[in-house]
Amino acid sequence: MRRDLYLTIYLIYNYIAGLATANPEIKNVVFIIIDDFRFPPETSVSLPNIEKMAANGIYFKNTFAQQALCAPSRNSILTGRRPDALRLYDFYSYWRSSAGNFTTIPQLYKDNGYETYSVGKVFHPGISSNYTDDFPLSWTYLPYHPPTEKYKEDAVCKDETSGKYQRNLVCPVRVKDQPGRSLPDLQSLEYARNILSKRRSKPFFLAIGFHKPHVPLKYPRKYLRRVPLKKVHLPKYPQMPANMPPVAWHPWTDVRRRTDIRSLNISFPYGTMPPKWTLKIRQSYYAAATYIDDLIGILMSYVNKTDTIVVLTSDHGWSLGENGLWAKYSNFDAALKVPLIFNIPGKVPKSIETPVELVDIFPTLVQLSGIKANIPKCRRIDESVLCFDGQNLVPLMDAKFPSYLNYFAISQYPRPSVYPKKTSDKPRLKKIKIMGYSIRTKRYRYTEWISFNSTLFTRNWNITYGIELYDHMNDPEEHNNVYSISKYKAIASFLSKKLRAQVSV
Ligand SMILES: *[C@@H]1O[C@H](CO)[C@@H](O)[C@H](O)[C@H]1NC(C)=O
Ligand SMILES: *[C@@H]1O[C@H](CO)[C@@H](O)[C@H](O)[C@H]1NC(C)=O
Ligand SMILES: *[C@@H]1O[C@H](CO)[C@@H](O)[C@H](O)[C@H]1NC(C)=O
Ligand SMILES: *[C@@H]1O[C@H](CO)[C@@H](O)[C@H](O)[C@H]1NC(C)=O
Repeated sequence: MRRDLYLTIYLIYNYIAGLATANPEIKNVVFIIIDDFRFPPETSVSLPNIEKMAANGIYFKNTFAQQALCAPSRNSILTGRRPDALRLYDFYSYWRSSAGNFTTIPQLYKDNGYETYSVGKVFHPGISSNYTDDFPLSWTYLPYHPPTEKYKEDAVCKDETSGKYQRNLVCPVRVKDQPGRSLPDLQSLEYARNILSKRRSKPFFLAIGFHKPHVPLKYPRKYLRRVPLKKVHLPKYPQMPANMPPVAWHPWTDVRRRTDIRSLNISFPYGTMPPKWTLKIRQSYYAAATYIDDLIGILMSYVNKTDTIVVLTSDHGWSLGENGLWAKYSNFDAALKVPLIFNIPGKVPKSIETPVELVDIFPTLVQLSGIKANIPKCRRIDESVLCFDGQNLVPLMDAKFPSYLNYFAISQYPRPSVYPKKTSDKPRLKKIKIMGYSIRTKRYRYTEWISFNSTLFTRNWNITYGIELYDHMNDPEEHNNVYSISKYKAIASFLSKKLRAQVSV
């Protein structure tokens, strides 16, 4: 009886909140997803257009990906469900065949009268989106892929020392000398501009995925001047922490296999990057990010700010030498933290520190657009076509003092073994033996690496291969695992319980 009363009050509250936020003037959505993009950059580097969007919009400063790998993260964002619900931790299954016929964000808009467009890398291409970016279920029009994307692995980077064209990591280029005389993100921008310039009678949902700063760090060389080497710095802790369990480490194979990095002969798996190269890579990562920032500035000049919601995010972050790590593939903040920025007509700008997750985007957009009411929270194993693992962030946007209570982010990463090997970065499903589950609250990151059965999708919390606890109050780089320190025992046990309660059985 009492519960019913609470439920009624809750539903009325949601209904009123829905009325208050679904402004009929706002019709369109532009969803920008940047590949492997950490934000903010170090303080000496500026990304003016994205910083402007953050300053003029609702900026969630502590947003975390569900898994620091492209396909699992993108499918999770776009279905609003965790990797465990999609059973996808690698690149090799399509949720509609392997998990359930779950509705995506663009699909829901399409079913509600919107024209939906995909430009560039939105879904991860390949089997994980049925080789079609989930067309036609998600998209009104055939997804667009820039033609020059086919040169992405070509030897087109002129090496500073040898003068030869190589498959380098660090790859500033002259665009007019490139095959196709363009670059994928320039072509995607052009395509998106045409869509935005169209006159239309129906509302639209446009998703645009930029490929950079994903490796190789290939970008127009003029952006090198925007990030002089003297502006970039080494991370505070460029070495592997002594008390890090080996299962937390990965050998960043996609970085070391590039020709320029391979010739440095860095020992496998624990060798670290020479400082000179750490600086060069950081410079090129930020130069590539500056390039994308410029394109976003141009894109935004085509967006009608009075009738369009703009969302900007990334699939996950990227380690730039912190703790000796590079790339994604981990449960550290550097690999999991992403920007999440909403530009919403009529909403007061605000930056919010509360930790949130990428699965929260779907319920938030649904609320903002007012396209469908009362979509339930997913139960533990939920095969219904539409439910949410995340939560609607509109109450946080509207609150005078956004709460931290009941907000935290859950992430995960699989491993084939405790000791790092070649496949530790991206184990295929059948090789996965261990799953690292991680909870991030405002102050702590707590991670348990436990036994995982990849045939039955079951986990055993009693078999652990490593436990980590980082206290962000005095260790923002997560360099000091304090799990075994006695004064942290109580908080570790509290976070362990919270984490287990969130992970489905
Ligand atoms: C999945 O759902 C869509 C509608 O949302 C439907 O058209 C399609 O037939 C379904 N596919 C299967 C295999 O059930
Ligand atoms: C996947 O694509 C194939 C065509 O290549 C199509 O026949 C099939 O229905 C698609 N699967 C789903 C679940 O939509
Ligand atoms: C790496 O190893 C190769 C072959 O052993 C050697 O020729 C080269 O000088 C080494 N490079 C560095 C930077 O040590
Ligand atoms: C922007 O959208 C508003 C509301 O739909 C419309 O009145 C206005 O004409 C649009 N502006 C431009 C430049 O298209």
